[in-house]
Amino acid sequence: MKYRKLGRWGPKVSCLGLGSYLTIGFGCDEDTSRETIRTAYDRGVNYFDTANAYARGEAERVLGRHLAELPRSDLFILTKVWAPMGDGPNDLGLSAKHIREQCDASLQRLGMDYVDVYMCHRPDADTPLEETVRAMEDLARAGKILYWGISEWPAPLIVKANAVARELNARPMAVSQPRYSLLYRYPETLLYPTTDNEGIGNVVFSPLAHGMLTGKYKPGEEAAQGTRAADPTKNSVIKAMYWTEENKRKAQELVSLAEQMGVGAAELAIAWCLRKPSVSSVILGTTSTAQLEQNLKAVDLELSDDVIAALDNMFPQPQTVPQV
Ligand SMILES: NC(=O)c1ccc[n+]([C@@H]2O[C@H](COP(=O)([O-])OP(=O)(O)OC[C@H]3O[C@@H](n4cnc5c(N)ncnc54)[C@H](OP(=O)(O)O)[C@@H]3O)[C@@H](O)[C@H]2O)c1
Repeated sequence: MKYRKLGRWGPKVSCLGLGSYLTIGFGCDEDTSRETIRTAYDRGVNYFDTANAYARGEAERVLGRHLAELPRSDLFILTKVWAPMGDGPNDLGLSAKHIREQCDASLQRLGMDYVDVYMCHRPDADTPLEETVRAMEDLARAGKILYWGISEWPAPLIVKANAVARELNARPMAVSQPRYSLLYRYPETLLYPTTDNEGIGNVVFSPLAHGMLTGKYKPGEEAAQGTRAADPTKNSVIKAMYWTEENKRKAQELVSLAEQMGVGAAELAIAWCLRKPSVSSVILGTTSTAQLEQNLKAVDLELSDDVIAALDNMFPQPQTVPQV
């Protein structure tokens, strides 16, 4: 494993992290969840990613149960708040009330007395930035979180929130979590210049575009049973964002290039994300230890300029901003 700094901040995170969306505590049974967590740890993964909303708390519970067997000081835990956790008017968003209540609930589910990063899962236009920034500062001063961050906030809002933090003499955010893959390159132009400037580290999600970049979804074919795309409880994002014949065809080109290099397509797609110094860690999502072992190989794959140019050619930078 290799470790990288989180922007300008002190802690080192494994450049490959383990996620828990649609997998741990949801798609994977207890044994597979435990085996995945243990394998990741044994291979040097210290960064484990979750959210209160993943399987409505179940991902945190299962993750916490199995991480409890490991030394807390070896682990770097990130969880999130914002998505609805109930039907009440205060059961969602980034108000001080919801942040404080959900932080306590997450710590209880995880069985931990602090998390390393607490993250605003999306922006909340109903809550002033001052309130959210101060709520994070209060949690940090109470020893419940060490750093805070955001996921999928537009760059101008990040700059504004950090300016508010400085005005309040509160800590600025340390971590950003964007979607980033060969099929979603927008952060290169829309986010990384800002996070580099602010000293914020990026831990990027969906590096395989929900499995599309493994090449297992073939042109002209429906998804095989057992895959994310075939499961109506898991496939809303892959179907809405990536499910085109063109993407399936491009993924086959990626497979051919990977074969010429003697590596797997997933490994190549993940190593491509890691080539950016703005990326502190790439979060893996896997439904078996076999997938995890394949994807972890990305850590040792150095890409030549020729390979990067070939991938730029196959997956050019998009010109338009997506509405997601
Ligand atoms: N901040 C946010 O809003 C946000 C959003 C999404 C995710 N995340 C975080 O990022 C993590 C990763 O996201 P993601 O799960 O979307 O990542 P991904 O790497 O794009 O997709 C993972 C899925 O692809 C398939 N897959 C992975 N490796 C494979 C391999 N070697 N061969 C074949 N299939 C393979 C598996 O699904 P099947 O086996 O079921 O086909 C796996 O669950 C999440 O767990 C979560 O912690 C954060």
